[in-house]
Amino acid sequence: MGRPRGGQKERKKEHYYQAAKRHGYRSRSAYKLRQIAKTHKLLLGVDRVVELCSSPGGWTQVLRELDPSLQIVAVDLEPMLPLEGVKFIQGDVLDEKTIERIKALTGGSVDLVLSDCSPKVSGHWELDVVRQLSLVEGAINIAHSILGNKGKILSKVFQGSGFQELMVSVRKKFNSVKLIKPAASRKTSAEMYLLAKGPRGRSLSGST
Ligand SMILES: C[S@@+](CC[C@H](N)C(=O)[O-])C[C@H]1O[C@@H](n2cnc3c(N)ncnc32)[C@H](O)[C@@H]1O
Repeated sequence: MGRPRGGQKERKKEHYYQAAKRHGYRSRSAYKLRQIAKTHKLLLGVDRVVELCSSPGGWTQVLRELDPSLQIVAVDLEPMLPLEGVKFIQGDVLDEKTIERIKALTGGSVDLVLSDCSPKVSGHWELDVVRQLSLVEGAINIAHSILGNKGKILSKVFQGSGFQELMVSVRKKFNSVKLIKPAASRKTSAEMYLLAKGPRGRSLSGST
């Protein structure tokens, strides 16, 4: 999603699309995570990761590549080809049962939640943005309940109607919030990544 410009043909010619193919990444998005991880030291002090909306697995490949010792639980509606050392849950991130399964598999607080959620494109931009923002809200709520006290969430978010309200609510829930536009994200797309650290306003026993 991200109000794409140009057709499928143009996208296939594009630099990151070609690079991902050459490198064996399952998605061009892999480069977005690589760039953010490097610039923002995303994996510093991180052992346990929950990755929401992970399929086909480009981000998961990057996580494995950057730190093979990470404990990763990945979740998506769609199946994902296995990756060594990654536990995968096929389920809806907005479904309470999926959240319970995530909690059962992680067995406590985690250091990092990643979310690259996009709904199936309906063709109606405004509707797609509303659906994407509700996925972000879901991801924020999951992160708020499973992150340790120094934990962080990186989530894709589309800047459309409802975006400012979402930012207000995320700022209430986390100590610091910033917006990031990695070079691999198309300039013409409304997509940004929000990085929020330090969940607050809750009591979580056993968190670090
Ligand atoms: C842009 S793709 C993620 C790409 C992934 N980061 C990668 O690098 O391969 C968005 C994903 O969101 C998933 N998704 C959308 N709504 C979802 C939901 N309610 N629960 C779980 N996954 C969802 C889609 O199935 C899709 O795989």
